[in-house]
Amino acid sequence: MSPIDQADIESFFNLVEKNIGVALDSSKAYLIQSRLSSIVAEHRFAGLAALLRFLITNPVGDIHWQAFEAMTTNETSFYRDTSPFEVLKTTIIPDLIQKRKDSRELNIWSAASSTGQEPYSIAMLLREHFPELGGWNIRILATDISEQALEKASLGIYNQTEVQRGLTETQIQRHFKKLPNGHYEISADLRSMVQFKQMNLIQDWPLMPKFDLILIRNVLIYFNQDTKAKIVKRIYSQLLDSSSYLILGSSESILFDQTYQIVQLDRVSYYQKKRI
Ligand SMILES: C[S@@+](CC[C@H](N)C(=O)[O-])C[C@H]1O[C@@H](n2cnc3c(N)ncnc32)[C@H](O)[C@@H]1O
Repeated sequence: MSPIDQADIESFFNLVEKNIGVALDSSKAYLIQSRLSSIVAEHRFAGLAALLRFLITNPVGDIHWQAFEAMTTNETSFYRDTSPFEVLKTTIIPDLIQKRKDSRELNIWSAASSTGQEPYSIAMLLREHFPELGGWNIRILATDISEQALEKASLGIYNQTEVQRGLTETQIQRHFKKLPNGHYEISADLRSMVQFKQMNLIQDWPLMPKFDLILIRNVLIYFNQDTKAKIVKRIYSQLLDSSSYLILGSSESILFDQTYQIVQLDRVSYYQKKRI
């Protein structure tokens, strides 16, 4: 098997960034082995070097998208980081209920939703703490670039470790059905609150409603500054008005964009359109 050429790794990383925005440098070269080996086996390439050569010398096709997707990190969990969900419970959702009491409609977008834990956590939070939303029109849109992640999310089936990461025993009992194989299936009620769709944040966006709440967490960190700035600008026009909310991941910030105002609450930062 021929060794992998450093220049091929660099060319492949450039392709990844061009197509999905994820910026990888040479310190991430080790990911090639762990993320792409199964594609080598599936398509019977002679080795990783041969796969990389194929990817960088052929027009972008199915195997490319499989490889790009494999380079994404899908790490997530229910109620990840806890604090943003506390702020949703104590401040953001009560405020939106007040502001949207005439339309009785809430549009929420979990952009880069991975395997679904984030949008399902929001659905769960609404059901558990806001019975007054019964009869409201609530839509939670969950998008991600990864078809595999979305497939799992749509099924709504998680193993024991996954449900135990972030959920209490009571929540597991209340919102999941235990299957004969020991896995847990999300309730039809929560499942019906979330619509999953594939979407690449760096390509054209489909027509979407304006949102009252957008969560785009732990994905901007993978993009370069220019890509990040463009996405944040497009998100601005997807927020319904200056009472809508944007929540990022705990290590992310968009202070570079002056069109947003930042609000700090209980160690959580959220963003709103600046009132003009
Ligand atoms: C680390 S997960 C974050 C999941 C969830 N938001 C959370 O914070 O737990 C990052 C997700 O971003 C997705 N992603 C990466 N590049 C993307 C792109 N260009 N468009 C849409 N999703 C992308 C990945 O597929 C992955 O599921």
